[in-house]
Amino acid sequence: MKLCLIGYGNVGYGFVRVLLRHGGWLRERFGFAPRIVAVHDLRRGTALSPEGLEPAILAQAWEGNRDLSELGPGGKREAFAVIEESGADVVLELTPTDLRTGEPAASHIRFSLTHKKHVVTTNKGPVALFGKELLALAQENGVKLRFEGTVMAGTPLFSLIDFGIATPIRRVRGILNGTTNFILTKMEAGKTYAEALAEAQRLGYAEADPTADVEGFDALAKILILANLVLDGDLRPADVLREGITKLDPQEVQNAPKEGCRWKLVAEAAREGREVWAKVGPERLPLSDPLAQVGGVLNAITLELDPLGALTLIGPGAGPEVTGHAVLADLLAIHRGLS
Ligand SMILES: NC(=O)c1ccc[n+]([C@@H]2O[C@H](COP(=O)([O-])OP(=O)(O)OC[C@H]3O[C@@H](n4cnc5c(N)ncnc54)[C@H](OP(=O)(O)O)[C@@H]3O)[C@@H](O)[C@H]2O)c1
Repeated sequence: MKLCLIGYGNVGYGFVRVLLRHGGWLRERFGFAPRIVAVHDLRRGTALSPEGLEPAILAQAWEGNRDLSELGPGGKREAFAVIEESGADVVLELTPTDLRTGEPAASHIRFSLTHKKHVVTTNKGPVALFGKELLALAQENGVKLRFEGTVMAGTPLFSLIDFGIATPIRRVRGILNGTTNFILTKMEAGKTYAEALAEAQRLGYAEADPTADVEGFDALAKILILANLVLDGDLRPADVLREGITKLDPQEVQNAPKEGCRWKLVAEAAREGREVWAKVGPERLPLSDPLAQVGGVLNAITLELDPLGALTLIGPGAGPEVTGHAVLADLLAIHRGLS
C-alpha cells in the first residue's frame, strides 16, 4: 500500500511515529507494510520517492524542522500534482480544519477519490459538511473513504460501528470535546472559567483562540458527522442547536456534585421516525450517567441500540499519536478489505 500524506503537521508526525514503533508488528501480524511515497506540506515542503520514505527519516525531518525536499525531489508542486504524480493508492488528508468551507481538504479529497485513490482523513470539516457526497463519490470510484480520527481521535468509534454493530443506532450522546471537558473539570474543582481556560491553553489543550471549542463549534461538527453518517440524517450546521460553556455559572458547576449531578458539554443526535435532530449544549447530568464520570480531556460516547440498550465508549479524544493511531487503523481496515 503506497501512501501520500497531504499535510504533515502534528497528526502526520504522530502517524509516522506510531508506524515507526509498530510497523514490524503490523507486517508480522497482518502482512501489512505501507510505504510512504509522498509527503506534501504547506510549511515543510514536498518529498516524492517511489521507493518509499523511511518513517525514521521522516520523523527526524519533522523534529529538525527540515525542508522535506532534502529527502527526495519535490519542488514547488501543488497538492493535486503531488497526489497524481505520487502513484499512491491511499491519500492521507491531514490539513487544518475549516468548519465553514471544508477547504482545502474537501478539494483534495474529491480530487483523490475521482483519481481512484482511497482516502483517510482526520479533518472534520469536509466530513461534517459533505460526508454523504464524498462517500458516494468514493463508492462511484470503487475506493474507500475512512475518517476514524474525526470524532474521537484514536478511540475506535467508527470501526466499532462498522464492524461490531448489526442493528440501527437510535441515539448518540457524547462528550466529544476534550478541551471543554477539561475546563469544566477544573471549574468543578474551584477554578474560575478564565483560570481553567488559561491552564488548558498552557497545557496545549486549547488554542490561543478557543472559540471553536468553548462555543461548541467543534462538538457541533462531530455530532453533525454522527447525525448524518451514522443516523442517516441530512442536517446542515445551521440545523444543529448549539450553546457553548462560556455562559455557565461557575458556582453552579462547583455545587452540582453536592446535589448528585455534574455539568458536561453534551453533543446529542437521535432518529425519531423519519426525522433526525442534533444539538450541543451544557447539561446537568446525574452522576449515575456514565458520561458524568468522564473527567479531564477524555472523550466518551453512549450509543443506544436494540437489543444492547446503551453502550458507552470512553477514550482519548485528541493528541498527535492518538489521532495517528486512527489513521493507521483506517489504513489497516482498507488493507484487510482489499486482502
Ligand atoms: N491534533 C489533534 O489532536 C487532532 C485530533 C483529531 C483531529 N485532528 C485534525 O487533523 C488535522 C491535522 O491536525 P494537526 O494537529 O496535524 O494540524 P497541524 O499541526 O496544523 O498540521 C497541519 C499541516 O498542514 C499544513 N497545511 C495547511 N494547508 C495545507 C495545504 N493546502 N496543503 C498541504 N499542507 C497544508 C499546515 O501548514 P501551515 O502550518 O503552514 O498551515 C500544517 O503543517 C486537522 O484537520 C485537525 O482538526 C487533529
